Amino acid sequence: MANLNWGEKDPLPAVTVSISERRPWRHRWKVLGLITLLVVPTALRCTTHLGPFLSGRGFRRLNNANICPQADALYPDRHARLWESLGKEFDQDAFTLRAVEWLGGAVRVPTESYDNMGPIGVDKRWETFGPFHGYLLRSFPLTHETLALTKVNAYGLLYEWKGSDDRLKPLLLAAHQDVVPVDPTTVDQWKYPPYSGHYDGEFIWGRGSTDDKSGLIGILSSVETLLEKNFKPTRTIVLAFGFDEETTGMQGGRRLSQVLLKKYGEDSFALLVDEGSGFDEIGGSVIAIPGTAEKGYADTMVTVSTAGGHSSVPPPHTSIGILSRLLVEFEANPIKPQLERGTPVYNTVKCVGQHAKEFPAHLRALIKSSTHSDEALRKLEAELIKDQAYKSLIGTTQAIDLIQGGVKSNALPEEAWAVVNHRIATQSSVSAVQQRDTDILKHLAKEFNLSFTAFGSDITPKGAPTAGKLTLTDAWESGLEPAPVTPTDEDSAPWQLLSGTIKATYNSHRGLEGADNIFVSPGIMSGNTDTMSYWKLTQHIVRYNHQSAVESNAMHTVNEHIRADNFVEMIRFFTTLILNVDETTAF
Ligand SMILES: *[C@@H]1O[C@H](CO)[C@@H](O)[C@H](O)[C@H]1NC(C)=O
Ligand SMILES: [Zn+2]
Repeated sequence: MANLNWGEKDPLPAVTVSISERRPWRHRWKVLGLITLLVVPTALRCTTHLGPFLSGRGFRRLNNANICPQADALYPDRHARLWESLGKEFDQDAFTLRAVEWLGGAVRVPTESYDNMGPIGVDKRWETFGPFHGYLLRSFPLTHETLALTKVNAYGLLYEWKGSDDRLKPLLLAAHQDVVPVDPTTVDQWKYPPYSGHYDGEFIWGRGSTDDKSGLIGILSSVETLLEKNFKPTRTIVLAFGFDEETTGMQGGRRLSQVLLKKYGEDSFALLVDEGSGFDEIGGSVIAIPGTAEKGYADTMVTVSTAGGHSSVPPPHTSIGILSRLLVEFEANPIKPQLERGTPVYNTVKCVGQHAKEFPAHLRALIKSSTHSDEALRKLEAELIKDQAYKSLIGTTQAIDLIQGGVKSNALPEEAWAVVNHRIATQSSVSAVQQRDTDILKHLAKEFNLSFTAFGSDITPKGAPTAGKLTLTDAWESGLEPAPVTPTDEDSAPWQLLSGTIKATYNSHRGLEGADNIFVSPGIMSGNTDTMSYWKLTQHIVRYNHQSAVESNAMHTVNEHIRADNFVEMIRFFTTLILNVDETTAF
């Protein structure tokens, strides 16, 4: 997955959240970097007609003590025999070796995507996707024989596996082919060469072994294995694999979405599963946190222009001096994070609070009270925002990340500019953030006698003297609204099905039974995936691929690796998902 900033290369470390260092319990919540929770605004309540799925399978109803109700494990029923026979196959060492070869081979075709790539057909670096497609063709022969493949914008892959019943909305599985480049200066820090796909008997190593070739190859391995068993879907399955997700997603995901919209229409998919978070041990319980929302993004460029001239006869304030004063104003007025019920972050806190075995009792009680008491909600907010990571996930952030001005030490700068980067809370919007940036600078524009144009509107007070210009713009038009929040309430059949599938996968991979070996919580992503192009296709978008946070690691940095057994578990997840979605009549 990509970080929100186009092409930003920082790794996505596991965020270790400590609620408060000063408390005796000193509990550390480990939350995957990508993640957090979810929430369900009533406006987004799913209106899907619920067939036998929910009534037949025990979904526990919400009661006072149950602030994060859980679906039961959901095992294929009509496809039970097929699923069991596949399960036996997945348990064999021979299958693990096959999976290792599938993923290792994919890692061995470097598919790096870079910022500022030239057009396809001109910039030779795109051509690496040709050999990658060749590899897929050789490795998944039945898939390529059976599914219809369309190449979108040269390298985007769109596979369609036609179901027998056209009336059912298809399942959309997404992944991306590209990987973040390996920094040449770090090659010697890799345990095994970054494109070796080396298997040491336990882990598969290399760039892309988790992000996101494990997802892409996991999906194809699942499809190929199902085809080997002669599975014929009732419901159409569509696979969409972009190829520049790590940079802008404009050539891959964006173009794929246009083709999908044209062919299938708006709100045409039952469920979309893309790369995202996985499961982790939190407070002694295993909790899966599928991403059900993504924060928004906005870069505000602040530009100050004044008359130039010789530095020997300066005015009291130069463009740089004024800009500095404006930037101080930003940091003096941090955007207050607000914990709100119904937001993804709040829902994660509720789920972790209820289901983590080891959890500070006082905090658990506070979370429970916060569901109805505003006072408790504010207290909980105060506890959470003591931690920088939680604070950032809860609210809209600001960070002054770029500054420039001046050309010579003896010339007055005619222009100085800076960029303030925002990650926007799910309950806010690009325009709300722009309004706030405008409001905090108004009095300073007046004080410095500047005309003021904010995001295209001239808001200079009438008759005001002007000694220069202040302009706010959406830098490189990068504004992105927060993603619509995926419905996760009791009536949302796709979410319940996903939750039940996660549990069935986890249980069967370990020979367990029951619903409480792993819990499922909605979560918010701190970064974006190709799903940012897919909002219109369905409201049921989840960013999840059943990776274990402990066993798969080092996304975007040196020594990226995945435990082979976890990769097999991912294949089991996609297989169980395909079969469960195929047989449900609930959506
Ligand atoms: C703005 O203009 C007023 C009126 O001309 C002047 O008194 C004041 O000093 C100016 N402010 C600055 C910061 O230059
Ligand atoms: Zn990725």
